[in-house]
Amino acid sequence: MLTDKIGFIGAGNMAGAIIEGIISQKVTKPENLGVIDISAEKCAHFKERGVNVFNTYEAIADFCNIIFLAVKPQNYEEVLKSLVGLTNGKIIVSIAAGISTGYIKSRLGEDSNVVRAMPNTPLLIGCGATALCHVAPVTDEQFLKIKQIFEAGGGVDVLPEDKMNAVISVNSSSPAYVYLFAKALINGAVKQGIDAQTATGLIVKTLEGSAEMIKSSGNTPDELIKMVSSPGGTTLKALDALYEHDFENAVIDAMERCTKRAEELGK
Ligand SMILES: NC(=O)c1ccc[n+]([C@@H]2O[C@H](COP(=O)([O-])OP(=O)(O)OC[C@H]3O[C@@H](n4cnc5c(N)ncnc54)[C@H](OP(=O)(O)O)[C@@H]3O)[C@@H](O)[C@H]2O)c1
Repeated sequence: MLTDKIGFIGAGNMAGAIIEGIISQKVTKPENLGVIDISAEKCAHFKERGVNVFNTYEAIADFCNIIFLAVKPQNYEEVLKSLVGLTNGKIIVSIAAGISTGYIKSRLGEDSNVVRAMPNTPLLIGCGATALCHVAPVTDEQFLKIKQIFEAGGGVDVLPEDKMNAVISVNSSSPAYVYLFAKALINGAVKQGIDAQTATGLIVKTLEGSAEMIKSSGNTPDELIKMVSSPGGTTLKALDALYEHDFENAVIDAMERCTKRAEELGK
């Protein structure tokens, strides 16, 4: 169990997901966690979970040695301004789309220990996927601590910083594409007279099973598609429609637009 004190600036969706992972996996005790948010209402839930709630940046910075910046990219400038002089010797973890470690260091000091992370919301239930990048002067020991925090909520991969915008389209925004696909499957089932509840159960199992096949069968997605596609059968007819609607390129286009937006938000 970590004895570090971990503070979150911004108590929204992502802070909530990371905090749930930390508490449920017993990475540290709730009393070692702190949050601050401009909305008192959002903090109330964390207070109930035994997490400390702070009203000033000075107080939360004083409390913790690891600070998560969990506000939207648009709010970074004001938050960093408020943190000047408060972060010496601490580890700063940025989870924002497009925000570079260089930008944070330019505001808080070039010797700041900044870890850039790109998590996703399934962290909330311990099934997250997080990309991390390790940039000097963060030490191996400091980096491993942050890795441990994210591992509590799922898997972690380490990437160079120049891939941290593109990776948003891979693990961070991508749950939304999966939910949209699931919604289409449910709607397609209902249209054919299968009730939504039964359809949802079957589809969830199918998504889980298909993900497990990709993970553990040793087959590529193309090989797995072939295994489902008997000559002259039903799957090939279904796939014909997806190819006609250029499904794969729609997904690739979505990913590229996602990365472009990260670059637009980028600093
Ligand atoms: N959601 C995801 O799936 C996801 C995945 C990976 C990374 N991220 C990144 O995680 C960050 C947070 O995203 P989110 O979805 O958790 O956003 P969110 O739910 O909107 O949470 C951000 C919170 O910060 C508050 N806030 C704004 N300015 C503040 C300030 N100056 N001081 C303290 N709190 C302040 C916001 O209040 P108001 O709502 O009143 O402004 C809001 O409660 C973003 O940078 C995003 O790029 C999100």
